[in-house]
Amino acid sequence: MKLIVTGGAGFIGSNFIRYILARHPRYSIRNLDKLTYSGNLYTLRDVEKNRRYTFLRGDVCDRHKVQEAMRGVDAVVHFAAESHVDRSILDSTAFVKTNVLGTQCLLDAARHAGVKRFVLVSTDEVYGSAPSGEKFTEECLLAPNSPYAASKTGADLLARAYFRTYGFPVIITRCTNNYGPYQYPEKFIPLIVTRALQGQNIPVYGDGLQVRDWIHVTDHCAGLDAALHQGRDGEIYNLGAGNEWPNLEIARRILQLVGKPDSLLTYVQDRPGHDRRYALNSDKACRELNWAPKIALNDGLKQTVDWYLSNSEWIRRVTARVYRSYYRQQYERRDSTLAKVLNRGGKK
Ligand code: NAD
Ligand code: DAU
Repeated sequence: MKLIVTGGAGFIGSNFIRYILARHPRYSIRNLDKLTYSGNLYTLRDVEKNRRYTFLRGDVCDRHKVQEAMRGVDAVVHFAAESHVDRSILDSTAFVKTNVLGTQCLLDAARHAGVKRFVLVSTDEVYGSAPSGEKFTEECLLAPNSPYAASKTGADLLARAYFRTYGFPVIITRCTNNYGPYQYPEKFIPLIVTRALQGQNIPVYGDGLQVRDWIHVTDHCAGLDAALHQGRDGEIYNLGAGNEWPNLEIARRILQLVGKPDSLLTYVQDRPGHDRRYALNSDKACRELNWAPKIALNDGLKQTVDWYLSNSEWIRRVTARVYRSYYRQQYERRDSTLAKVLNRGGKK
């Protein structure tokens, strides 16, 4: 099988490329990636000499480039996206371009090239915040709250429409929060690890009691592999791990693994429109794809922390100047009365 992976120089895409090359010895992969701030070829240095892997630099919004990439391809797994909620709050322009228009461009090119399967890597954020005690199924209403989530919902609904309108063989997966090796340290877990290692404060938004369902990236890759091979055309599959924990608890566990004190935790102003909880019902994926997450959170966190400890050169390269100026822009303005009270150990 000839696969196109878009966004393969990013966190999940690069893990997926490694996963597929290792498990499917007859598959070849073409990685189409623009190499934005979060994409880095250093992440793929271990596969770049593999004869079943090729890299094509390009923007998923570039119609000619995408058509060229699509030639002779059997299936597409589409990861490329602007992926960080906080950046989408600062400016959502690139989010709408890449996530909505880029997806439309790929869907059109794939349809015209006769691609037999198109997996859209969507997200649980399309459902919005989960009420306490409830888990979203694939039939639930979509109610995205951030510009990032809204742009991913646009992509998700476009893919659905291409199946309904053209019978184009699309599969949509909606996964929860991933963690693991090669995650850009703007996201919570690698941000905690990389800052804690340097003894820097850890910014905790609001009261830190927002809940996320954490899945190891390898379990997500296994779910995508299963969807690619066993999924039914036009179907949506939730991929969650059932590891629901408040952010503060996750931060404390990581500090313990790194051997740093809880005093590094610093409450800062909350994210506007912050979703309180994500939670998915993944029964359909377990039943139809014969998939289940396997990596226990404590084991996965330890493996992840160990990976960052052993890969200081990767951290150094991705946290160069652009990262530091982003950090200043994002965090210097975060201050609030609530944050000051919480930092003094007071109550809300
Ligand atoms: P990431 O930011 O680490 O990687 C994104 C990759 O896409 C980068 O390599 C970047 O260079 C590339 N890219 C960005 N714009 C592009 C464009 N216009 N053309 C071509 N390439 C472009 O993101 P990630 O965390 O690996 O997420 C991958 C996908 O998975 C995204 O679609 C995201 O919405 C989805 N997802 C992520 C999570 C998570 O927890 N990280 C959970 C569920 C779903
Ligand atoms: O749920 C899937 C989504 O998970 C993906 O679609 C997104 O691409 C991915 O970025 C992620 O979104 P989140 O907003 O949940 O992830 P993030 O790592 O940014 O934040 C996780 C939680 O930690 C969230 O409640 C906000 C909080 N947080 C985050 C940062 C960066 C902090 O408290 N402090 C921080 O500095």
